[in-house]
Amino acid sequence: SIAYSVYPDHQTASERVADLFTNVLSSGSPTVLGLATGSTPLQVYGELCRRHRNDGLSFSQASSFNLDEYLGLESGHPQSYRHFMREHLFDHVDIDLARTHLPDVHADDAQSASDEYERQLQQSGGVDLQLLGIGTNGHIGFNEPGTKKDSLTRVVDLAPSTIDSNQRFFESPDQVPRQAITMGIASIMRAKQIVLLATGQAKAAAVAGAIQGPISADNPASYLQSHPHVHFVLDESAASEL
Ligand code: GLP
Repeated sequence: SIAYSVYPDHQTASERVADLFTNVLSSGSPTVLGLATGSTPLQVYGELCRRHRNDGLSFSQASSFNLDEYLGLESGHPQSYRHFMREHLFDHVDIDLARTHLPDVHADDAQSASDEYERQLQQSGGVDLQLLGIGTNGHIGFNEPGTKKDSLTRVVDLAPSTIDSNQRFFESPDQVPRQAITMGIASIMRAKQIVLLATGQAKAAAVAGAIQGPISADNPASYLQSHPHVHFVLDESAASEL
């Protein structure tokens, strides 16, 4: 089973997640952060930027690894996850950009780039705190239903439902990437601590399946049940089917 907490709204839930990041960042020793994109973590990053600005929260000892990146967008594309991270976090705090990692989607050979990412991840000493969102189909990172538990960083095809829900960020449907490089389930499970943030009614079924359902490739987030230190932070809507 997975421990979870329910908060009245997205902002309060985001502040509790920001507290976990503040704890690891305040340790004073080198920290490896596992970061996520999507609309869900925006307020977490907003809160961390605010704490950097107002309370002196420092990222100077931190390095980071993002879960995933789209394949097929030109470098600097506003919807690329590298751009997202600069816009919402990296450009507003004192993190060393050279220590921020996202999969290299512009290499000639995407699978070699994935292997290299996995190697860097392992060499980093491991993620201290991994932030996750969840797809309406239970995906974490871009590990869609059907993903195996022992999967590592690799090239994946996005599920049709994921392509559909991502359309809102692009001008036309044909611009939505069909593939990505994502950390695998095994890559994610090596993190020392994992926090999954989910808000809104659209996530309620995926959240209930992850926490209470069988451990199954049908809901990749259910694999988290076998992680020793995972916590779901939810708002009331996302918790409504528990
Ligand atoms: C995206 C990302 C995931 C994210 C999920 C939910 O496609 N690759 O990391 O958790 O889908 O996104 P959102 O938070 O916008 O609902």
